[in-house]
Amino acid sequence: MIRFRRLLLFTALLLAVVVGCAAGANISTGSPTQHNFVLQECAVLMLSDRRPDSPLIPCDYVGIEFLACEDAADVQPVGNDTSSVCPYFGPRNGVYAMTNVTCEVLPCIECSGPRRFKREAKCVKFTGHYFLSTLLYSIFLGIVGVDRFCLGYSAVAVGKLMTLGGVGIWWLVDIFLLINGNLMPADDSQWMPYW
Ligand SMILES: *[C@@H]1O[C@H](CO)[C@@H](O)[C@H](O)[C@H]1NC(C)=O
Ligand SMILES: *[C@@H]1O[C@H](CO)[C@@H](O)[C@H](O)[C@H]1NC(C)=O
Ligand SMILES: *[C@@H]1O[C@H](CO)[C@@H](O)[C@H](O)[C@H]1NC(C)=O
Repeated sequence: MIRFRRLLLFTALLLAVVVGCAAGANISTGSPTQHNFVLQECAVLMLSDRRPDSPLIPCDYVGIEFLACEDAADVQPVGNDTSSVCPYFGPRNGVYAMTNVTCEVLPCIECSGPRRFKREAKCVKFTGHYFLSTLLYSIFLGIVGVDRFCLGYSAVAVGKLMTLGGVGIWWLVDIFLLINGNLMPADDSQWMPYW
């Protein structure tokens, strides 16, 4: 009876984690380049004396920290022309694909020329996977495949669950793969940056 209760408790915990990580993966599907500090940044710039009263620089020369850019993953094909869409995400053999994203100068920055323009950007995407939480899942719940579930390898995860982490070996191997960067989210996304 006690064993059965423990099993129930464990299953409930497991469910909570899996549901939690699935939900979490969708919460922060945002671009880290899209700034939520626009207002503060604006205030700082307005208050400081650093704005030179010199001729305005062209808007497309403004640094990336003063731009709000579209996500590379959100670039849509123009009609039938898919050449602008990312062929893949993340590095392949250390090389990133590039795409042209639309950028807009943040409201308080003064510059000359069009405030919206295209700029080349690396093909990376973020779907809410954090390295640290994944590592913790891997260490504490990897024996039942929760780490693989969270990263989107559901079929593989079932196998890992059935074999109890490959009798412990697979469990250890996955922790190792995570740490040395060979186990990444299944959708080619990158780890969310912490900021
Ligand atoms: C994430 O949420 C959006 C709506 O906010 C939804 O359209 C999309 O299907 C969700 N993705 C997943 C993987 O659940
Ligand atoms: C786009 O594809 C459709 C059929 O797939 C074709 O009829 C159309 O002419 C194409 N348009 C362009 C601009 O290539
Ligand atoms: C981005 O646009 C410029 C100008 O239109 C073009 O020369 C360049 O090849 C484009 N880059 C990519 C990766 O599509």
